[in-house]
Amino acid sequence: MGSIEPITGAAAAAGARQSPAYQTGFGNEFSSEALPGALPIGRNSPQRCPYGLYAEQLSGSAFTAPRSALRRTWMYRIRPGATHGAFRRIDDGLLTNDFAGIETPPSQLRWDPPAPPAAGESLDFVQGLMTMAGHGDPAAMAGCAIHMYRANASMHRRFFYDADGELLIVPQLGRLRIATELGVLEIEPQEIAVIPRGMRFRVELPDLKSAGGALDAARGYVCENFGAPFRLPDLGVIGSNGLANPRDFMAPVAAYEDVDGDFELVARFLGHLWAAPIDHSPLDVVAWHGSSVPYKYDLRRFNTIGSISFDHPDPSIFLVLQSPSDTPGVDMIDFVIFPPRILAMEDTFRPAWYHRNIASEFMGLVHGAYDAKQGGFVPGGASLHNCMTAHGPDAKSFEIATAADTSKPTYIRDTMAFMFETRLPIRPTRHALESPQLQRDYIACWQGLKKQFTGKP
Ligand SMILES: [Fe+2]
Repeated sequence: MGSIEPITGAAAAAGARQSPAYQTGFGNEFSSEALPGALPIGRNSPQRCPYGLYAEQLSGSAFTAPRSALRRTWMYRIRPGATHGAFRRIDDGLLTNDFAGIETPPSQLRWDPPAPPAAGESLDFVQGLMTMAGHGDPAAMAGCAIHMYRANASMHRRFFYDADGELLIVPQLGRLRIATELGVLEIEPQEIAVIPRGMRFRVELPDLKSAGGALDAARGYVCENFGAPFRLPDLGVIGSNGLANPRDFMAPVAAYEDVDGDFELVARFLGHLWAAPIDHSPLDVVAWHGSSVPYKYDLRRFNTIGSISFDHPDPSIFLVLQSPSDTPGVDMIDFVIFPPRILAMEDTFRPAWYHRNIASEFMGLVHGAYDAKQGGFVPGGASLHNCMTAHGPDAKSFEIATAADTSKPTYIRDTMAFMFETRLPIRPTRHALESPQLQRDYIACWQGLKKQFTGKP
């Protein structure tokens, strides 16, 4: 198990098992070469590329998209991407994009963390994906699928790409080493990675016992974004700094594998998995330049902004990345976090208020505790509050917040929750609704909220 050696170029120079090197910025026109002179200068597709490489463009947006939204990358590779065998259907496991096959309840839903792989079961990152919910359709390039994963094996002689969407990966337990066509990203819990639509990659799990670590299995969350690529939100009156700062996003440097052998290329296309034989590693890009890149971001670098007078702002203040829809100001997907923060608002109910939202909210907890729930929402678990489904702090949290001394700040230090908030209702899958991890008594957390009306001011 493990990676295919050798990784050559920059990663080899740094030591393939040491921390990978990165370039910083968001949406930049990046460039990188693992061998000197491999990147053509002054043109994208010379008659003969240096080192005998093939030039290939990966388009992440329409050719004619405005420059601010244009994503494309030129790769200079040992073999073109088309050099593989025919695709055949393989088992989808618990992956699906059929969100209409089961009725969607308006109920508040919450899940415990997924069960680890069963004894004797070997699941890599792709095999371990379980679709929990979603909406829309990859054929319409609109909507998303929300998955959770549990995995106890590195991808071995297998590579994956997702034609249906961009992947926002949120590990909760265990680091991920993601070897992509453009280089290597390594992320740990409280970091995220985003893999562009179509980018080929392999996921390794360096924290497993089998790799010398301490974990039996890794787990986490994935948002598969069928629509427009994630971008940084505009800041409006916040000004030119704040929230997720562009310089904290990290893209890989070129690192290629020149390896022949029997491998498998797995594709997700229109909701299903397909596999093709390939006689070499497709991570054979020696040099590249462009703006459609995999990237990582450390959520602990998020500059959290909030009220310094009274009232709790709308959670849009915690927006990390957005996938815009065709309607100005309305995102198809917002990736929002609830990071460590200091609540200083006076005479204010400091947790999130009770609300019913036109948007739909799928939440996960990466680390610590979430301040609006005193119990039940545990790291690795998830919750879903759909369009107009009432929710808010549980009875115990209400009791604590209404008795708190708001002349003093509240320090919330040990937490990292997140939300995939979407424009359209989120439809749980049959697997999610029938899962033993579904907390059938979740609604009880609000039943202790008793009538306090006195009839007097
Ligand atoms: Fe909410």
